[in-house]
Amino acid sequence: MIINTKQIIDITKVKHSKINEVDFSDITFGEIFTDHMFECDFIDGQWQQPKITPYKALSLEPSARVFHYGQAVFEGMKAYKDDTDNVWLFRPEENFKRINISAARLAIPEFPENYFFEGLKTLLNLDREWIKKGLGNSLYIRPFVIATEPAIAALPAQQYKFMIICSPAKSYYAGAVRVLFAEKYSRAASGGVGFAKAAGNYASQFYPTTLANKKGYQQIIWTDASTHKYLEEAGTMNIFFRVNDTLLTAPTNDTILDGITRKSVIQLAEDYNIKLEVRPVTVKEIKEAAQNGELKEIFGAGTAAVINPIVGFAHGDDTFELPEFEDSFANFFKEKLMAIQYNMAEDKNNWRYKV
Ligand code: COI
Repeated sequence: MIINTKQIIDITKVKHSKINEVDFSDITFGEIFTDHMFECDFIDGQWQQPKITPYKALSLEPSARVFHYGQAVFEGMKAYKDDTDNVWLFRPEENFKRINISAARLAIPEFPENYFFEGLKTLLNLDREWIKKGLGNSLYIRPFVIATEPAIAALPAQQYKFMIICSPAKSYYAGAVRVLFAEKYSRAASGGVGFAKAAGNYASQFYPTTLANKKGYQQIIWTDASTHKYLEEAGTMNIFFRVNDTLLTAPTNDTILDGITRKSVIQLAEDYNIKLEVRPVTVKEIKEAAQNGELKEIFGAGTAAVINPIVGFAHGDDTFELPEFEDSFANFFKEKLMAIQYNMAEDKNNWRYKV
């Protein structure tokens, strides 16, 4: 949907940037936000004039539906700066499509395409200084929609707020990541909202992940809710397994997020003739491959995490450590992806988008 209007974004700039207070060499993911934010309210059945204002706290009634029913969806994107100060996004039209797919599942109205892209570009241009050069530096972009209507009947809201906030980022996970294969808890069930970036999908993982953390595992690899036999995704990342020289990953369905990094890895595997099977992957086959030395790698793929190698996993009382080796697929895909994202390599799939 494109709202055909000449309405421009109403911009209020900060008087003083806070950028000089930030130590860009020491960044924890998602704790610092840039000077400005984008917002647009849905009232009386339509999206209103979009605004960019200084980043600030919101004022919402305690009865706003988002607080009671979690009617909220979000996206994760990144902006990158190349050596000549150009700013790039990576496949942003995929994020745009997905936020509206997520929104539709949560009965949230569709956000117009031109508002999304104009908002994004204007915001990034205002906060351009916050995007630092150098591989590994990026600006994490968080578009999201919340139900703001002050009414607590369990019904879809009539009022929403769409926002974009931005946060300078380096790596998402600090240190080696070990994962636990889920046996009891589930992230998503068939017919549910697992495919959507619904806020509640993440909140429901916090408690089981805290239990896993206590056992020394940073993440859970979720399995299918009915049998716990099939490996699905890690909640913050999609998951790939390398058995000998074949890459395996689960097909997306209504319980697995259709990750943009995931689909880019699949395309790169095709481009570079890496054997890939997109099919249901069982806990049993991965444990057997680990036992007989055929499981070479597990890695996660996501916007925030990029490509994150997993050094070990557990299922029940069985624990496995994975060998470290130089020519890993994880490093290969990470290098290829980043070279495209930072405008250091040819982009034959047209994934880069200049801001
Ligand atoms: C992303 O990679 O952008 C995600 O959505 C993961 C997030 C929960 C940090």
